Amino acid sequence: TSLKELHTFRLPYSAQALIELTCANDLAELNDDYYVLGEGSNTIFTEDFSYPVLRVAIEGYEQTSTEQGYELRVGAGENWHALVVRTLSAGMPGLENLALIPGSVGAAPVQNIGAYGVEVAEYVRSVEAWDRQARKFVVFTAEECQFAYRDSLFKKRPGRYVITYVNLLLPKQWQPRVSYGALAELGAEASASAIMEAVIRIRNSKLPNPKELPNAGSFFKNPIVSRGDLKRLLTTYPALPYFSVDAQHVKLAAGWMIDYLGLKGFSVGDAAVHDKQALVLVNKGSACGTELLSLAKAVQARVAKEFSVALEVEVRLLNDKELINV
Ligand code: EPU
Repeated sequence: TSLKELHTFRLPYSAQALIELTCANDLAELNDDYYVLGEGSNTIFTEDFSYPVLRVAIEGYEQTSTEQGYELRVGAGENWHALVVRTLSAGMPGLENLALIPGSVGAAPVQNIGAYGVEVAEYVRSVEAWDRQARKFVVFTAEECQFAYRDSLFKKRPGRYVITYVNLLLPKQWQPRVSYGALAELGAEASASAIMEAVIRIRNSKLPNPKELPNAGSFFKNPIVSRGDLKRLLTTYPALPYFSVDAQHVKLAAGWMIDYLGLKGFSVGDAAVHDKQALVLVNKGSACGTELLSLAKAVQARVAKEFSVALEVEVRLLNDKELINV
């Protein structure tokens, strides 16, 4: 089965088979050693894959209103952005900063999707999953999900859980979240839909639409460094943008560092650094896995040499049988 249409980076590889999962209970019948895929917006296949790919297509949307807020139980195969739009149209704000993030609802907790000052972790009440090791259905509270920046229990234990449903809580007490640079001009009185529209506008201006220019969003994570390292870096690079993480750590804008090195548009074959957002790598048409991996290594090497900072990969990269790192 060709994987080209099943992942947004669109490399020309295939999988041994494709299993379409529409009913959670079918998981108990499966014994194959499959790789779990949602909409493929954060996974890149860099070779032909020797195992079956399980595409989670579980639908479903249930909503209850409690004193605290709106509780939603959403099938892992639902589209994330459609959910954001649906909740906002129904007068339930909360997810507006996370508009237009590609991918499925089930993938959202895996890497704890985040944008414009908000992470999905804040709205997750629990996650339902199939535990492939224990062969039973399990429910994790938000705390048990171990959410961190682009990280979770599910990312730490790749392959162990298949997320089936995500339970979200949208509190009725809502406040606009406009601390992030470009949203600040909306002001503290901004409505949720105004924020969503601004987020959509910003994303469309910087981030390539995977349907037009294949990509998987940010390719690298923003590196977390100590405040001591930040101080050292700022003496040489006073314009380097950073975001506070905790009392000891900050997150550096990797896109800025790659951009500073003049790497926008830099390419290896058809794999290139996006010319509007340097943290995004794109497939200009007929890139292959080797080209993408050499491009990624070249970017890492340049950043390490100039800034002494290691860039970790944010996307999930696969070779013929497993997840890999560059
Ligand atoms: N910057 C540059 N040049 C570039 C890219 C960025 O100078 O080519 C500067 C920007 O001007 C800004 C700073 O670097 O001052 C940060 O850039 P931006 O706001 O575009 O966000 P980012 O840090 O590159 C992260 C997330 C995105 C998310 C945005 C907005 C990660 C790995 N990426 O990117 O998430 O949409 O913030 O919140 O944390 C994704 O995960 O796939 C993704 C797209």
